[in-house]
Amino acid sequence: MTDVLVAYATKMGSTKEIAEAIGERLRAAGHEVTVLDAAQVRSVEHHGALVLGSGLYAGHWRREAVKLLKRNEKLLVDRPIWLFHSGPLGKELTPQRAPRKVREIATRVGADEPTTFPGRLTEQTAIGFIAKKMARGDMAGDFRDFGEIRAWADRVAGQLSATGSPVPPGGA
Ligand SMILES: Cc1cc2nc3c(=O)[nH]c(=O)nc-3n(C[C@H](O)[C@H](O)[C@H](O)COP(=O)(O)O)c2cc1C
Repeated sequence: MTDVLVAYATKMGSTKEIAEAIGERLRAAGHEVTVLDAAQVRSVEHHGALVLGSGLYAGHWRREAVKLLKRNEKLLVDRPIWLFHSGPLGKELTPQRAPRKVREIATRVGADEPTTFPGRLTEQTAIGFIAKKMARGDMAGDFRDFGEIRAWADRVAGQLSATGSPVPPGGA
């Protein structure tokens, strides 16, 4: 059993729901899971592993997710970490490259490049003038595939079990 932090950065709520779905699967696999807004995370020191996701905006991650990575880079070297981002709208999923800063940190802490999950943009949930305008166009909709998200989380759970149960340094 590993104490896993699932942190998310969202503007319009859809990435939070993805994080919660991931958290549920990890919990079902027997892990201790905390799901938190990245803005609320000071340190990962009390957690044995991190799953971090951000909504994509103009190719960027939200600032609070990048801050979490930067602030915890040293601690993350010793912990398993999985990254994802959500954004692409439309039926055709085009995997998105993470911003350079995120890729650089991912490399340094030994994480794979983020997995891309499709996003959501609807008139009901859009926040801000541009988003609301986009939500009236042909990209609007909820393209998230929770089956795919749960399958991904199950693979993370499997990898966590395979790597043993890392205990945070100084913990337990
Ligand atoms: C102004 C704006 C810019 C966006 N830019 C991107 C982008 O660069 N790449 C992408 O894949 N999705 C982009 N999206 C789609 C969002 O990432 C998608 O709606 C996502 O699910 C939002 O996440 P959130 O609900 O957690 O904030 C953009 C959406 C808006 C409103």
